Amino acid sequence: MKEQLEAIRQKALNELENAASIQDIEAVRIKFLGKKGELTGILKQMGKLSAEERPVVGQLANVIRSEIEAKIEEDSKSIAQKLQAEKLKAEKIDVTLPGKAKVLGSRHPLTVVLDDIKDIFIGMGFDIVDGPEVEKDYYNFEALNIPKDHPARDTQDTFYINENIVLRTQTSPVQVRVMEKQQPPIRIISPGRVFRSDAVDATHSPLFHQIEGLVVDKGVSFADLKGTLEIFIKQLYGEDSVVRFRPHHFPFTEPSAEVDVQCFNCHGAGCPLCKGEGWIEILGCGMVHPKVLETCNIDPEVYSGFAFGLGLERIAMRRYNINDLRLFFENDVRFLKQFD
Ligand code: PHE
Repeated sequence: MKEQLEAIRQKALNELENAASIQDIEAVRIKFLGKKGELTGILKQMGKLSAEERPVVGQLANVIRSEIEAKIEEDSKSIAQKLQAEKLKAEKIDVTLPGKAKVLGSRHPLTVVLDDIKDIFIGMGFDIVDGPEVEKDYYNFEALNIPKDHPARDTQDTFYINENIVLRTQTSPVQVRVMEKQQPPIRIISPGRVFRSDAVDATHSPLFHQIEGLVVDKGVSFADLKGTLEIFIKQLYGEDSVVRFRPHHFPFTEPSAEVDVQCFNCHGAGCPLCKGEGWIEILGCGMVHPKVLETCNIDPEVYSGFAFGLGLERIAMRRYNINDLRLFFENDVRFLKQFD
């Protein structure tokens, strides 16, 4: 039996010597030390031995088992180390390879201009409010002093959801919504999408953007309107901008005006940018009509206010010298990546 044990030791150590992987080592362990392994098989036959032989053979078997186990441990370790080294080598990063460029988006030109405008009004203490794009006829027209038969509706043809619900043609309905909910003092701007039933071309789009402004308080006068808008325009176009107020008509303001800024390209002489006029129209405004205040349960004997509305696309087109409105909405990356 001793010879058998010696032979097992030799065989096991030999096979371990040749084992190239963790799997090979495990196979050797099972073959010799497993439940049905060769060494285990010998030990099971110990009963056949004499009382003197048994401890001697038993001891030898234990020594051999420890020896094989130690060898397994040692070989497993060195194979694991080898594998780790190979893995590290394979995963080595080549720092000379070109990096992966991260493509960063940029703000839409309309957003750039809108953010600037918001900043200016926030600086003057205005809040920014939101209003629905799908709007009741009542808010878009009726409450703004534009009844069903009013000719002002012709220029603001829109998309009708039904007889009483429209896609808003202007941001002015937000004036009414704010005044209904809040007693003065009111100082807000409200930017957003508006819609008109216009065919698409370089200067028309069925969807565009306006920014509404509304101030209501005791003793608000036309001088406040002029001063506020002049400060706004100078901040937007520069301290030396020249501003002009022209009489106009809106059903929901009285008196009303349109505001022009002197062409910053030709300083009033006339050039292609201002179409030879010397002036560029940038917004409509006026004192809130007493009828509109009354409709909103604000007493026109106590309070007065002014409102204004400007078109965002126009301002952006002029700032960036963009000659086609469609560029804003086509989402061509070659166009969009030129901004901010
Ligand atoms: N809502 C008007 C328009 O779309 C502009 C405007 C707003 C005029 C507020 C006066 C006051 O033309």
